[in-house]
Amino acid sequence: MVAQQLAVIGAEAKAYSMHIGTGLLESVLPEFISQHGFRQAALVTNTTLAPLYGERLAEKLPGAFLITTPDGEQFKTLKTVRAIYDQLLSHGADRSMVMVALGGGVVGDVVGYAAATYMRGIPLVQCPTTLLAMVDSCIGGKVGVDLQQGKNLVGAFKDPLAIFADSGTLDTLPPVEFACGMAETIKAGFIADPGLLEHLEQFGAQPIEEIIARAANVKIEIVQQDRLEQNIRAYLNLGHTFAHALEKVSGYALRHGEAVSIGVVAAARLSETLSLAQTGLSDRAEKLFKTFNLPVRFGDYPLEAILDAMQHDKKKQNNSLRFVLLEGIGKPTIHNQVPPESVLDVLKSLRQ
Ligand SMILES: NC(=O)c1ccc[n+]([C@@H]2O[C@H](COP(=O)([O-])OP(=O)(O)OC[C@H]3O[C@@H](n4cnc5c(N)ncnc54)[C@H](O)[C@@H]3O)[C@@H](O)[C@H]2O)c1
Ligand SMILES: [Zn+2]
Repeated sequence: MVAQQLAVIGAEAKAYSMHIGTGLLESVLPEFISQHGFRQAALVTNTTLAPLYGERLAEKLPGAFLITTPDGEQFKTLKTVRAIYDQLLSHGADRSMVMVALGGGVVGDVVGYAAATYMRGIPLVQCPTTLLAMVDSCIGGKVGVDLQQGKNLVGAFKDPLAIFADSGTLDTLPPVEFACGMAETIKAGFIADPGLLEHLEQFGAQPIEEIIARAANVKIEIVQQDRLEQNIRAYLNLGHTFAHALEKVSGYALRHGEAVSIGVVAAARLSETLSLAQTGLSDRAEKLFKTFNLPVRFGDYPLEAILDAMQHDKKKQNNSLRFVLLEGIGKPTIHNQVPPESVLDVLKSLRQ
């Protein structure tokens, strides 16, 4: 077992651990729950993961009962949160219990929000089961749900007691979901870890525990620094102004990770166009994303519509386009005054 452990400093300087390794759910998590002396554990997962891992795990966790939610972003809602509250109440759950979120980013966000609010907050353990959740969504304490008006409009900050990323669960993850997690992993490398990119180029995503640890660490470091220094957290949005616009214009046919892949290539190209970065940066990005079966071009979506969607992106400030760009690998920088013509040029070059 290749195990990794990272220390995370959460809100109010409280430290917790992120454990990464195969088989952690059954070998380490039950002991962690009993050591903390919880009277009950609500293991919350979705209908896909319950038969794969949830039902077995519920038998191993002391005092555990299983709550199963429907699978999908369309269920990341207050309605699901309410159904979780109902189940907690029917089990007589109080603040002496712990909630365990077992799933991808959707489960982590919705269960985290339930844990942040049920009886003004109960302890939470995050068990991410997608690559994206392991390297991105389970870190940083942001939890929440979508409203009809938009994504992630209601939320809270909720640090877990610990994160258990069981890399064995990735064996059943659909390849396209794995690829989407790789998009955020590669993004992390471009933001802050050139060595991670070199490793991926030479050896692929093996050993996965090391890859997860390095990418997760990029987010951990940034989120921690952001508590002191404003704006660093925005670096995590590398490629995301493009990505959000492409997702929207594609009518969400493009998955987030796929759009991030094109978006990071676009951000790299824009950095080259504005002479911030040396030529070759975007080619390197392209090559690496392609290795993991991620798209680096988009179809025939109208360019004006993409530009328009970017101008409505929430990261826009004072009517000018705001981008996270790169001065090189590991050297992100924020630009507020990017001329729309340069953006259009980049978009044109990335059309299929
Ligand atoms: N809180 C944050 O900081 C943050 C950051 C980034 C993304 N997010 C959120 O994360 C969500 C996306 O997360 P995601 O990409 O993990 O998607 P997801 O949670 O929808 O999971 C993708 C699919 O894979 C299935 N699945 C999960 N693990 C599996 C496994 N081990 N084996 C087989 N199937 C498995 C799920 O049931 C689902 O069908 C979005 O709602 C996004 O807003 C939150
Ligand atoms: Zn993202």
